Amino acid sequence: MQARLSSAIDLTGFRNEARDLLAHQVPPEQVHWETDVVTEADLFAQPVQGSDQARPSRSIPRAATAIVPSSFLRLCEVVVLHHDAQRFSLLYRLLWRLVHEPNLRNDPIDPDMLQAQQMAQSVRRDMHKMKAFLRFRQLPDQEHPGEVLHVAWFEPVHHIVEAVAPWFARRFAGMRWAILTPERSVRWDGRQLMFGPGGSRADAPAADAGEALWLTYYRSIFNPARVNAQLMQSHIPSRFWKNLPEGAIVPAMVSNAELGARSTGQAQAVGRKTGATIPIAPADAQPERQQPSKLDECRRCDLWQFATQAVPGAGPKRAPIMLVGEQPGDQEDLAGEAFVGPAGKLLDRVFDAAGLERRTIYLTNAVKHFKWEPRGKRRLHKTPAQREVDACHYWLDKELVSVKPKVIVALGATALKSVLGNGNAKLGESLGKAIQHDGRWVVTVYHPSYILRVPDEEAKRQAFNVMVEGLKLAQQLLERQPEEPKG
Ligand code: URA
Repeated sequence: MQARLSSAIDLTGFRNEARDLLAHQVPPEQVHWETDVVTEADLFAQPVQGSDQARPSRSIPRAATAIVPSSFLRLCEVVVLHHDAQRFSLLYRLLWRLVHEPNLRNDPIDPDMLQAQQMAQSVRRDMHKMKAFLRFRQLPDQEHPGEVLHVAWFEPVHHIVEAVAPWFARRFAGMRWAILTPERSVRWDGRQLMFGPGGSRADAPAADAGEALWLTYYRSIFNPARVNAQLMQSHIPSRFWKNLPEGAIVPAMVSNAELGARSTGQAQAVGRKTGATIPIAPADAQPERQQPSKLDECRRCDLWQFATQAVPGAGPKRAPIMLVGEQPGDQEDLAGEAFVGPAGKLLDRVFDAAGLERRTIYLTNAVKHFKWEPRGKRRLHKTPAQREVDACHYWLDKELVSVKPKVIVALGATALKSVLGNGNAKLGESLGKAIQHDGRWVVTVYHPSYILRVPDEEAKRQAFNVMVEGLKLAQQLLERQPEEPKG
C-alpha cells in the first residue's frame, strides 16, 4: 500500500496517513512511503509557513492518541527532518509497535527506538551547526532600493530549513535576509518567512567589506601558540569551512603557526592532545590559589580549554534528590545543559519506570567540562582523571551546600568517587545500596552510558533494572532520616 506525503517534511501528512493505516490495521511491512518534491517555480513567490501546514489535520481517534506517548510525537517532529528515505517507514513501524507491544516504551535498548533517537540527534546537531556556522553577506536589495539584503549560503545535511528559519527570524528580526541551500530557500522581509526551492552557491554574493574587517580581526585574535588544526577540524567540520569567511585564511595561518612553532622549538603539543591524554597544568596542584567565582571562568584544571562551555547543574533550588553524573557529553557540551543527549534520554526512561519526574530532581555532574579525544570527526568521551574530579569537587560542594539534597544518586564510578571524596571507592561494592555520607543518603547505580554501551541484551536489562530500583530506593529514603554525622 502506498502512503503519499506532500513534501519531505510533511509531519501532518504522516500523522494523518499513519492514523488511517493504523485504524485499518495495515502492518508496517505493507506500507510504502512516498514524498512529493516541492516544485514552486518562482523562488520566494509564496509566503508559506512550512509545507507541513498545507494539509489540514484530520480528527484524531481517541484510542490512537491515548496510547502513544507524547515523547514519541516529539521524536517524530525531529526524525521527519532526517534525510534518510526510510524515516517514515521507521516511524510508522515504531508507532505500530507502540500500539501492539505495550512494553516497547519501557525498553531502553530497542534497536528501532535507538535508531530513531540517533536520527533525531543527528538532525539536532545539523540545526545547531546551521545556527552556528551560517554567515550573511550583504547585497543591494532589488525590491527596496538603497537598502541591503543579507544573503547566506548553507549546505545542511537534513531537511532543516523550515525548522530553523523561525530561529533566524527571531534572531535577525530587524534585518531583511535570505538563506539559500541546495534544497530549499527562505526569505524574511521583516514580517514573514517565505520559502522556496533550493539555489546554488553562485546565487549567494561574494565577500563584502564587512567581511574584510572580520578577517582582519580574526587574524589579530588568532594565537599561533595555541593552534590545534585537528581540534579546529573536529569543532567545525571541513564542509563548513569552505562557506565561512575565515575558512579561506585558516589553512595559511595554521601552516605559518606550525612553521613558527618549529623554528622557535615550541612544543608541538601546545594546545593539542598527544595520544590519549590531555596535558594537565601543574597549577592544578594548588587549587586553593584558584577560586573562580563563576563556573565559566573556572581554570582549576585544563579541561576548559577543550570544551565549548562549562555545563552547570540544574533543577529545583531545594530538590530533595540530587543526581550526579560523570561529565557532560558531546551534546551537553554544545547545549550547555546536563543530560540532554543519549544518556539523558535513557535517564528519562529510567525516571518513567521509577515513577519520578525529571523536573523534581537536581541533575549535575562530578566534572563540569566535557573531556574528549578526537576520533575522525567525532569527539569521543574520555573518562576524567581523579585530579580533574578532585579539582571540580569545588563546584559540586557549592551545589550540595545550596541545594541540600536529602538523597544523592551517584551514576557510576566517577560520580561515586566524587560524592564520597574517595578516589578508591568501588562501584561494585555500592551498587544498588544506600549508604550514609556526610549526613545524607547516597544511592549508587550504573551510569546510563553503560547501558547504551554494553553489548549483551540481558546485561542491559539488568543494569536498567538496577537503575530503576535505585531511584525507587532514593524516593523511599526521603522518608528516613540518616544518622547525624559523627564528630
Ligand atoms: N553523561 C553524564 O554523566 N552527564 C551528562 O550530562 C551527560 C552524559
